Amino acid sequence: MSEVFTKSIARNIYYGGSVFFFLLFLALTFDTLGAIPKRDNHEALTEQVVLGKKVWENNDCIGCHSLLGEGAYFAPELGNVYQRFGNSTDAIIGFIKSRPVEGIPGRRSMPQFDLSDEELEAVAAFLKYASEINTENWPPNIQG
Ligand code: HEC
Repeated sequence: MSEVFTKSIARNIYYGGSVFFFLLFLALTFDTLGAIPKRDNHEALTEQVVLGKKVWENNDCIGCHSLLGEGAYFAPELGNVYQRFGNSTDAIIGFIKSRPVEGIPGRRSMPQFDLSDEELEAVAAFLKYASEINTENWPPNIQG
């Protein structure tokens, strides 16, 4: 290594490093933009799923639940609840309708939302859709 670490060497490392990492950042950004459409399950985005997302938002489900890791940690992760309930939207609907179930020791309870049949089917379709996004197997286990 050179005995003399000159200002110009320092400057070249600074500029060279900046350019290198900026180009790397651009390459990774383009790679991500190319990869997301193959994984986001957008073909399955029906009107019903869109309505389900609105039901999800209007009732603040995320205030208690997480979805694919984002959200609150009061209640179970719902990104894979469709699989957890045996690949059944009917089971999800039945669950939501039957709440609240209280008095089970150590178990929190979910309120009743009085959703219409259309809203129930839509929110269940939304959870099915979310479960079919290619997340590289996130959540890592069936419990969420
Ligand atoms: C006030 C907090 C709260 C809100 C808001 C909430 N939940 Fe829940 N949810 C819970 C709790 C607590 C449980 C687990 C306990 C139980 O059995 O009730 C649960 C369980 C569930 C389960 C079953 C998960 C499993 O693996 O057992 C589903 C499905 C679900 N909720 C859907 C929804 C949907 C859809 C919404 C919005 C319409 C919603 N939740 C809003 C608290 C909430």
